[in-house]
Amino acid sequence: MITLAVCSAKGGVGKTSVVLGLASAALARGTSTLVVDLDPQADATSGLDVTAQRAHDAAAVLASPKRRVAEDAVAPSGWVDDHPGLLDVVSGSAASARRDSPDADEEELKALRRALRKLDDHDLALLDTPPSLNGLTRSAWRAADAVLVVSDASRFSVAAVDRTLREVRSLRSAPRVVGVVVNRFTQRSGEQRFRLEELRGLFGDLVLDPLPDRVAVPQSQGSGTPLHALRTRTARTLAAQFDTLLDRVLTGAGGTSPAP
Ligand SMILES: Nc1ncnc2c1ncn2[C@@H]1O[C@H](COP(=O)(O)OP(=O)(O)O)[C@@H](O)[C@H]1O
Ligand SMILES: [Mg+2]
Repeated sequence: MITLAVCSAKGGVGKTSVVLGLASAALARGTSTLVVDLDPQADATSGLDVTAQRAHDAAAVLASPKRRVAEDAVAPSGWVDDHPGLLDVVSGSAASARRDSPDADEEELKALRRALRKLDDHDLALLDTPPSLNGLTRSAWRAADAVLVVSDASRFSVAAVDRTLREVRSLRSAPRVVGVVVNRFTQRSGEQRFRLEELRGLFGDLVLDPLPDRVAVPQSQGSGTPLHALRTRTARTLAAQFDTLLDRVLTGAGGTSPAP
C-alpha cells in the first residue's frame, strides 16, 4: 500500500478537493483505495458520501490503534455500490480535534502509522489533513510514504509552503515529497502568475502543473459524484490532471528525496 498525506499549513486551498480528485482517479482505474479523514471538519467523509455507521472513526483509531478498532472504522464510500473494498473511508469527526495538539509526543504521532499497518489490504491510502501542521498532520507524515503539498497562488502561501517542506524534510525518516500543487489557479490573474513563478523559482521542479479554478470541482462535490463521472469538458480536463497526479504518486516519478 502506498500512503499519501495531502497537507497544507493553510485552510481552503483545496486539500480535500485534491484527495477527492485522486480518489476519483483511483476509482476510475480500479486501484483499491482507503481514504483516512483526519480533519475534524470531516469534509472528505461527506464528499465520499459515507452513509454506513461504524463503531469507530479516525479519532478512535488514533486513540487506540489496534487491529479491531481500525478494521471496525472502515466504511464503504457511497461512490461505489457494487465493488466492496474498492473505495473505503475511515471517517472523520470533530473528536479528532483533540489529537491536533502542537505538543503531541512521538508515541501519539506514531499511532496512525501503527493502525495503517493493520489496514494494508488496499493499494493506496489517501490521508486528508486539517489546515495546520500540528498533531494530526504530523501523524499523517509519519504514516506516509509520500507527501503532496497543496497551495494557492498568493503571497502568504509561499511562506506556508516553505515552512511545510522544511518540517517534512526535517523528519527522521522523511516521506518523499511528491510535489507542490497550486490549486484554483487563474491564468488571467497577473498576481497568481507571479506567485506561481515565485514558487517555481524557490522550489523548482517540485512545483507541479497547477490545477485550474473550475466549477466542475464544487459541482462534483455538491452532487456527491466522482469528478471522473462528470461528462463536461472541463470536468474531463481536470480528471485527466488528477490521472497524471495519481501516476506520479503511484510510480514514484519525480519528487525529491529528503535533504541530507
Ligand atoms: N480547482 C478548484 N476549482 C474550483 N473550486 C475549487 C477547486 N478546488 C477547491 N475548490 C473549492 O474551494 C473550497 C475549498 O476547498 P477544500 O478542498 O475544502 O479546501 P481545504 O480542504 O484545503 O480546506 C471548496 O468549496 C471547494 O469546492
Ligand atoms: Mg479540507
